[in-house]
Amino acid sequence: MVNIIRQVLVTGGAGFIGSHSVELLLAQGFRVRVLDNLSSGSLDNLPNHDRLEVIKGDIRDAECVRSAIQGMSHCLHLAAQVSVSRSVEDPVASAEQNIIGAVTVMQAAAEAGITRLVYASSAAVYGIPTQLPIFEKSSAAPLSPYGLEKWVDERYATLFESIHGLSSLGLRYFNVYGPRQDPHSPYAGVIARFLDCLLDHRSPTLFGDGRQTRDFVYVGDVARANLAALLGHQQGVCNVATGQRIDLLELLDLLADLTDCHLHVSQQPPRSEDIRDSWGDTQRLSAWLGITPDWTLKEGLAALVAEARRRRHLASA
Ligand SMILES: NC(=O)c1ccc[n+]([C@@H]2O[C@H](COP(=O)([O-])OP(=O)(O)OC[C@H]3O[C@@H](n4cnc5c(N)ncnc54)[C@H](O)[C@@H]3O)[C@@H](O)[C@H]2O)c1
Repeated sequence: MVNIIRQVLVTGGAGFIGSHSVELLLAQGFRVRVLDNLSSGSLDNLPNHDRLEVIKGDIRDAECVRSAIQGMSHCLHLAAQVSVSRSVEDPVASAEQNIIGAVTVMQAAAEAGITRLVYASSAAVYGIPTQLPIFEKSSAAPLSPYGLEKWVDERYATLFESIHGLSSLGLRYFNVYGPRQDPHSPYAGVIARFLDCLLDHRSPTLFGDGRQTRDFVYVGDVARANLAALLGHQQGVCNVATGQRIDLLELLDLLADLTDCHLHVSQQPPRSEDIRDSWGDTQRLSAWLGITPDWTLKEGLAALVAEARRRRHLASA
């Protein structure tokens, strides 16, 4: 009998977006192999499952990537150095992970003849937007090494398609939030940091005037976009956003209401690598991948607060 079960290698599968994607792939009947060096991810994020295999290894190690991709039909490449500020502090180390690591995965994918590669790009490729919302055709002008590295990955993916026929799609994630985002990392997303402060009754720190806007997309919707992209055939890049934006003061109000914790905010000067506005156009997400985000921000935040409370309760029991 022909085995029609698809086999997916997920690099960075023990991380935040990775673990939600792995869960969805398993639920859809895929066999999943995770390659992760556990630098920011954790095995605790992953379920025990007979169709899940985990390899501890690094995407910069070509031999390890080559062996991990053997027998796979698809690859979801998420492993990266994910911090914008760390990329500014140490651009060489960041490029090694985010360019050399990504090219190593692409080369192994091409050699193995896999059907489809989907990889994590970022809204950071756009830099300061010249128009809002931001379309994929808007110019790329990254403000940080991190954004530039993701943009370079996109160029490599285009080249690998023309040289090797490797079918790929780069997903430009906007601000992703949801359970399992580590609030204790100094580079954690703003929602995870704000929520952690509120639940601890500590004043959240706000950089700038709080009127900067973001397009926050729930991690469950991002996992759905990853799955649709793996099964699709479009080549190029696609925003993963909601098409809605909110400023950080409004976000804090929502979180304060949901946690019933209204605290004074400690304000700091704006950070140079932070852009003022980010808001993604979602026409391509819907037309190419058939994805309309299911979660409103209020619903996503409510789910996140409930999950954070449950974890704290378990930790203190
Ligand atoms: N979270 C967001 O809002 C967001 C926005 C835009 C883009 N992205 C991109 O999405 C991807 C996933 O991000 P995330 O938020 O889940 O971060 P994360 O830190 O939770 O996940 C990254 C995973 O990659 C692993 N990893 C890091 N370096 C590795 C290496 N050299 N070899 C093997 N594994 C390695 C980590 O251990 C971790 O499990 C990244 O490529 C990131 O740049 C995330």
